[in-house]
Amino acid sequence: MTMIADAEALRTRIADRLSDARTRTGGLTDCLDEPDLVRQYSPLMSPLVWDLAHIANQEELWLLREVGGREPMHPEIDPLYNAFEHPRAQRPSLPLLQPAQARAYARQVRGRVLDLLGRVSFTTGALVADGFVFGMIAQHEQQHDETMLATHQLRHGEPVLTAAPPAGPPADALRLPAEVLVPGGTFTMGTSTEPWALDNERPGHLVPVAPFYLDTTPVSNAAYAGFIADGGYDEPRLWCAAGWDHRQQAGLTAPLFWQRDGTGQWLRRRFGVTEPVPPAEPVLHVSWYEADAYARWAGRRLPTEAEWEKAARHDPATGLSRRYPWGDADPGPAHANLGQRHLQPAPVGSYPDGAAPCGARQLIGDVWEWTASDFLPYPGFSAYPYREYSEVFFGSDYKVLRGGAFSADQVACRGTFRNWDLPVRRQIFCGFRTARSAGGLGGSSPRSVAEGIA
Ligand SMILES: [Fe+2]
Repeated sequence: MTMIADAEALRTRIADRLSDARTRTGGLTDCLDEPDLVRQYSPLMSPLVWDLAHIANQEELWLLREVGGREPMHPEIDPLYNAFEHPRAQRPSLPLLQPAQARAYARQVRGRVLDLLGRVSFTTGALVADGFVFGMIAQHEQQHDETMLATHQLRHGEPVLTAAPPAGPPADALRLPAEVLVPGGTFTMGTSTEPWALDNERPGHLVPVAPFYLDTTPVSNAAYAGFIADGGYDEPRLWCAAGWDHRQQAGLTAPLFWQRDGTGQWLRRRFGVTEPVPPAEPVLHVSWYEADAYARWAGRRLPTEAEWEKAARHDPATGLSRRYPWGDADPGPAHANLGQRHLQPAPVGSYPDGAAPCGARQLIGDVWEWTASDFLPYPGFSAYPYREYSEVFFGSDYKVLRGGAFSADQVACRGTFRNWDLPVRRQIFCGFRTARSAGGLGGSSPRSVAEGIA
């Protein structure tokens, strides 16, 4: 392709990704009336109308002002939508734009952005090279859409979101081995070449990983219910010290949104619908502390972030790291459960076309997976384009999650993508899988996936 054709293809790709995000934002907000948009459902979350105007404000800031050199449209509202000036708990008390004003602002910004996109040259610096900052803004809106979906999950009231359930698991799902071996050796972690990768995914660097076994699939609800039934929440030896303190203080006895009916059966509430917990679905809405305790109960441990990424990306045939477990192609509907296409994870063992070379399934999509690792910079990290994107979060407070969930869009999910949150958090769409070192001591999984969900 010529450079001009390349630029045109990039313009189309950017416009499509921005449009996808805006369609989703509309779907998450148009279904609610004004009182529901301005209400705060949990101190952990913003009112949805804040997300709506914040999305537009960031788009104006980075695309119209930084790239386009425009003057601020409404400088007086900038501080209201700066996430670092106002924690979520305070946001309902701010003089926020009302829903109609927020929608009008978002429309105005987007119209001007599309004008700018038609004229921009992608050759004037690192911010626009390969369309990076446009990709960053599409990812930003999709990440807020995921947060808004979590707000919907916390909301009480009648269901307002609909989507078809994912297809049932493939015929081989129950015959899969419960764990797969990931051979030892060095692999390339992170990336220096993925154009829209964010600063914390960079640079690519070599990491040695000892051989280990990883669960073929995420831990299922049935397996997790086994931990509960075995008294896992009442056994301090299974929990790290901080985890046990938290379990006591917060009174944890089951994943968030689970409750027992009169007969002792587990029910869960999802997007306004209460139904029996589906045994074969990956467990969702557990904190890092709960995942860590489950792993210890199983005689296993959480995988490190490097182990997770090696399992997901390393191709032993070429020695190279792939963009995704299945290869370098962008995710399609047969690869992974992403982008709110369904409103729930698929049963464990689904998506054979998305399997990694090691045989693990569902590493991308379905549920975010807690890892054992703290959120730390890679060697050679440099903050870009602003310190508050990642750098201010580095340290031992935050744990890394990998792989994206049904709630994450493909533009904000890839083999190198890093998410992070506090170990107590569980309103996000998080689950986990477990690992054990090869050759060392440690529990083995059931022999097959079927035994794990029996
Ligand atoms: Fe944001």
